[in-house]
Amino acid sequence: MNIISGKELSARLREEMAAQIPSLEEKYGRKPNLTVILVGENPASQSYVRSKAKAAVAIGMTSSTVTLPEQTSEAELLELIAKLNEDDAVDGILVQLPLPKHIDEDKVIDAISYEKDVDGFHPMNVAALWLGQPCIVPCTPKGCIEMIESTGVGIAGKKAVVVGRSNIVGKPVAKLLLDKNATVTIAHSRTADLGAVTREADILVAAVGRPLMITGDMVKPGAVVIDVGINRLEDGRLVGDVDFESAAPVAGYISPVPGGVGPMTITMLMKNTIQCFETRMQNK
Ligand code: GUN
Repeated sequence: MNIISGKELSARLREEMAAQIPSLEEKYGRKPNLTVILVGENPASQSYVRSKAKAAVAIGMTSSTVTLPEQTSEAELLELIAKLNEDDAVDGILVQLPLPKHIDEDKVIDAISYEKDVDGFHPMNVAALWLGQPCIVPCTPKGCIEMIESTGVGIAGKKAVVVGRSNIVGKPVAKLLLDKNATVTIAHSRTADLGAVTREADILVAAVGRPLMITGDMVKPGAVVIDVGINRLEDGRLVGDVDFESAAPVAGYISPVPGGVGPMTITMLMKNTIQCFETRMQNK
């Protein structure tokens, strides 16, 4: 069994990007900027937002974080987004999810200019992804593909099973695997005999959000296993959707939690910010 270290792969990719920023600055007169909006005080969200801003600065981009109180109205948030859409110095806008219950997430995502939508969540980007057109690809699915490709195991012709059907991970990662010519099955919480389905998978992506749900007996020997889950257990332990202990001896390649998909998501956010910057600069 081989461990797919998202941490190490991220470090390499971030170094490459850091080397690229000075030439972008020289060419276009400024550095790419990522602006992150956080509404409320969810501790997990606060930690993610800090990591995103820190990563941006570490590779030589500029980053701004706008922190708004929990009781911020939907109208106020939409007004801020409209302002950032118009701001020429802002290349990427990310609104950290989840938002407080009184704010309609769909409305907020719709309001972000699709050209600055570094998350790839805007309906224009989602449509373009499914139509096979140029778009901004969501960070976590993009990171999963990079991790699978880093193993050297080819995707074309393989059976891929994605467990989970969210808009953020399950659905887009299935489309990306399809684009790489895998035969793709999307399984979920209502799939009958899930183990029988996952045992067929040469490539298994677990993105259900249920701690330790995928056990070793559900993994095909030698499979590539990507664990997207980040779950906090009652004892404080951070675990994935895959039971690493029982799955690792069976898998050919497996990503750990932490140190797997998490850092790759942030690395792909950096890539998307550079993409948004270059696209806007070239279209000026
Ligand atoms: N919350 C959990 N994952 C994500 C993500 O990828 N982007 C944003 N904006 N919020 C999230």
